[in-house]
Order: sequence, then C-alpha cells, then structure tokens
Amino acid sequence: MRIAWGITGAGHLLEASVDVLKYIKNEGHDLSIYLSGAGEEVLRMYGLFNRVKSLTGKGYYNELILEKDQERSYPMTGRFSLGKYDLLVVSPTTSNTIGKIVNGIADTLVTNAVAQAGKGKVKTLIIPVDLEAGDLETVLPSKLELELCQHCEVCEAAEACPQDAITPGVEINLLKCKGCGICQQACPYQAITGGRKITIHMREIDIENTHKLFDFDGVEVLASPEEVKKFLTKE
Ligand SMILES: Cc1cc2nc3c(=O)[nH]c(=O)nc-3n(C[C@H](O)[C@H](O)[C@H](O)COP(=O)(O)O)c2cc1C
Repeated sequence: MRIAWGITGAGHLLEASVDVLKYIKNEGHDLSIYLSGAGEEVLRMYGLFNRVKSLTGKGYYNELILEKDQERSYPMTGRFSLGKYDLLVVSPTTSNTIGKIVNGIADTLVTNAVAQAGKGKVKTLIIPVDLEAGDLETVLPSKLELELCQHCEVCEAAEACPQDAITPGVEINLLKCKGCGICQQACPYQAITGGRKITIHMREIDIENTHKLFDFDGVEVLASPEEVKKFLTKE
C-alpha cells in the first residue's frame, strides 16, 4: 500500500506510533511521513526524530515531509486531493489538530493533509490523544527535577549535554534538547528524569471535538496506533 502518516505534537502515543511506523516499513509499504511543526519538535524532545527519519528518504512517496518546508499553501498535500495515497493515518493527533479538523480548519501541514484527503476520498484513520473523558497517564521528556537538584558548583549534566540545553539549577530548554538522555546519566543525584509518568485530565471540549469526528465521512477514529495494522493489505 501507499501510506501517508501524519505526526502532530503529542508526547502521548508517540513512541507507540513510531513502533507501528517501523512495522509498516518492514512490511514493505511505501511510507511518507508528514510532521506538523510541533510534531517535529516533540519527536526531537523524546529522542525519536532520527528513528522516524531513518524510515524515510528511500525514494518517491517515501519522504519525510516537514511543515517548515511547505510554506503556507502546503503544496505536498495536493497528493491527497489527487488520490495518490491508499491511506492517511494521523497518530498521535493533538487536541489542537482535532479541534481544527472538526471545524473545517486547514492551516497546518497535517490539517491540510486531512482536508485534502477528504476531497480526494483517501481513507483516513485518526488516533486522538483525547478519546475518553477522565484522567490519562502520559510520559514527559527529559526534565530537571528541581527538588532533587543539588545546585552543584559545576553541573555535570549541563557540561555533558551536547546541545547545551541545560541552564543549571533552572531548566532544560526542550527546543534544544534532542532526548539523548546523556544528562540523566551524568547527574550524580538523578535530578534529571526521562519518561516520568504524569496524570493529566482530559478537557471536556477536547473529548467533544473528538466525538464529532465519529460522524465524518471517510474518517475512522481508533484508540491506539496498533489498530492501524488491521487496515493494511498486501498488494
Ligand atoms: C513535551 C510536549 C508534549 C506534548 N504532548 C501533548 C499531548 O500529548 N497532547 C496534546 O494535545 N498536546 C501536546 N503538546 C502540545 C502541542 O504540541 C501543541 O498544542 C501544538 O501547538 C500542537 O500543534 P499541532 O497540532 O499542529 O501538532 C505537547 C507539547 C510538548 C512540549
């Protein structure tokens, strides 16, 4: 199959999405990956950008497409209105992107892809972060835990960081962080965590928006990226 996969800026379901992308590639499908601007940033923060990049770059319809290279009219998404893909998957899908889709807004790379897929009748699978009301456990990228920081004269973690992303005793600049985890090893007080779990509350408006998607023509909402495997067919 010729598959397009959009990644938006959510930490939740991100690693599970990358695992399914790898599966799809190994199964021999063509795979274009579309990253929203936030999707690219968040992939880097969680140390997953290079894994995603390594799945692409092997010819036509196997590209990594970045929002920042597509200016404001997102010409690459014309492929969807021309029906060039068999399937569009968006996973993970942020509350922001869902809110835009259900209101007919197409002003990012991924929201344009979904809009054009509707016009070109390309089947679309959406895996939202906000699906059911209630609390959700999710994981953080690298984090300087201030209550554990000993404010050492020389911060070993900051010294070790190849991105110069750490302001000792203050914070990690996540826009510089590449999620390599070297800082976690370097700090003798384990004051930097990676993948710490937190519980967040789903907002009612985000759940409402997701539920509006259930009635969209040509769109199916799935609970996990793993479920995408059911939609893959051999040529
Ligand atoms: C580390 C990190 C994790 C995030 N995780 C989520 C998330 O799980 N769900 C979500 O809706 N937004 C999350 N965000 C916020 C989005 O990235 C932000 O709303 C962004 O503007 C979404 O843009 P996009 O929908 O075009 O990708 C996260 C941001 C950061 C920095």
